[in-house]
Amino acid sequence: MKVQSGISLKGFNTFGIDAKAKYFAAFSSVDELGQLLQYDDVRAKAQKNQTNILVLGGGSNMLFTKDFDGIVLKNGIKGIEKVQEDEAHVYIKAGAGENWHQFVLYCINNNLAGIENLSLIPGNVGASPMQNIGAYGVEIKDIFYSLEAFHLHEKRMVTFNLNDCNFGYRESVFKKQFKNQFVITSVTYRLNKKPVFNTSYGAIEQELEKMGVQELSIKAISDAVIHIRSSKLPDPAVIGNAGSFFKNPEIDKNSFDVLQKQFPAIVGYQLPSGNVKLAAGWLIEQCGPNDSVSWKGYRKGDAGCHAKQALVLVNYGTAKGDEIYALSEEIIASVLQKFSVTLEREVNII
Ligand code: FAD
Ligand code: EPU
Repeated sequence: MKVQSGISLKGFNTFGIDAKAKYFAAFSSVDELGQLLQYDDVRAKAQKNQTNILVLGGGSNMLFTKDFDGIVLKNGIKGIEKVQEDEAHVYIKAGAGENWHQFVLYCINNNLAGIENLSLIPGNVGASPMQNIGAYGVEIKDIFYSLEAFHLHEKRMVTFNLNDCNFGYRESVFKKQFKNQFVITSVTYRLNKKPVFNTSYGAIEQELEKMGVQELSIKAISDAVIHIRSSKLPDPAVIGNAGSFFKNPEIDKNSFDVLQKQFPAIVGYQLPSGNVKLAAGWLIEQCGPNDSVSWKGYRKGDAGCHAKQALVLVNYGTAKGDEIYALSEEIIASVLQKFSVTLEREVNII
């Protein structure tokens, strides 16, 4: 465990942006984290301004638009253990530095259900509640039990239960009122012994049919999700990206009806609240740098909009973070102009 200076973060973010961190250190236990915060440089920074500490997991939801003038703490806390069991559930605690997809596979291999729809999401366990990650009709909040986090300022451990986290669509207290205050060190999930299959979302059912699945299982659903995701989302190991760059915007039903009159093909999903969630990918695909070109598949230098999923911005190699950001600004402006809808970024911008 040592503090390094001026290191490149290129290998630590899936966009592959070559930004530098003033300081960088990895830790693999709460004790090591505590020791790191004793270093003079780190302590001075932390006391001056909490935002100069950045906790990093897999770096799969970050865009560095500039060098980071502070310390990056790479969370490597490992370990998976069963902590509790009742008639219907098994409670599994995982270290924040465990790879998310490997954790999903661990659950599936142990016949623990509820997490299978979240297969193949990049990143680590620690960011999963921070982001309330979601896919194919399931969000972390559906299987979350509790988490432990280290308060950077008060230097003490705090336990958060479901109600403490205030989970929303890609939101939690850790992105809002407690932003930059806690390092999540472990998360406990409540998995089902008996599966309740959730195949209603997106193309899961068609994919299961294509795969020739006779008997539904959590493994089959996981495989179907993996196939679908691999067919449209770019692999960060090949093309830099951070998944959906923007959130799907929510509008009220009246506004949706007005838009639908003007754009009959608009894609929207009715929410239980009565509001409608628009497919941002569709909105972006309908706009472009000019009337004859769509953003989808657009490329300017090494910054681009993915050809199979317009919601994903990509780095073809040497794009700088501010070039990707500038492209996102252009996209937001064009969607606002055409649809009067403001897109919000999902990716964390530094
Ligand atoms: P990082 O990018 O390292 O960090 C993200 C944020 O969390 C930062 O603000 C960071 O400071 C904070 N953070 C990280 N770890 C901790 C910790 N231990 N304590 C406190 N704060 C912490 N997301 C979805 O929800 N659904 C998807 O379907 C999905 N698909 C994706 C597909 C691709 C190809 C890619 C590249 C990304 C996708 N994402 C998706 C986004 C991303 O995978 C998730 O947001 C993931 O949870 C980020 O994890 P990470 O460990 O990489 O976090
Ligand atoms: N669409 C288009 N053109 C595009 C992309 C999408 O028209 O280029 C339309 C299509 O009608 C499509 C619909 O949008 O049916 C929805 O697309 P998709 O199923 O690919 O899902 P998404 O809404 O674009 C969301 C999440 C993903 C998650 C998938 C599956 C957000 C911001 N994104 O994407 O999460 O994996 O659903 O549940 O909510 C992420 O957060 O990084 C992420 C990848």
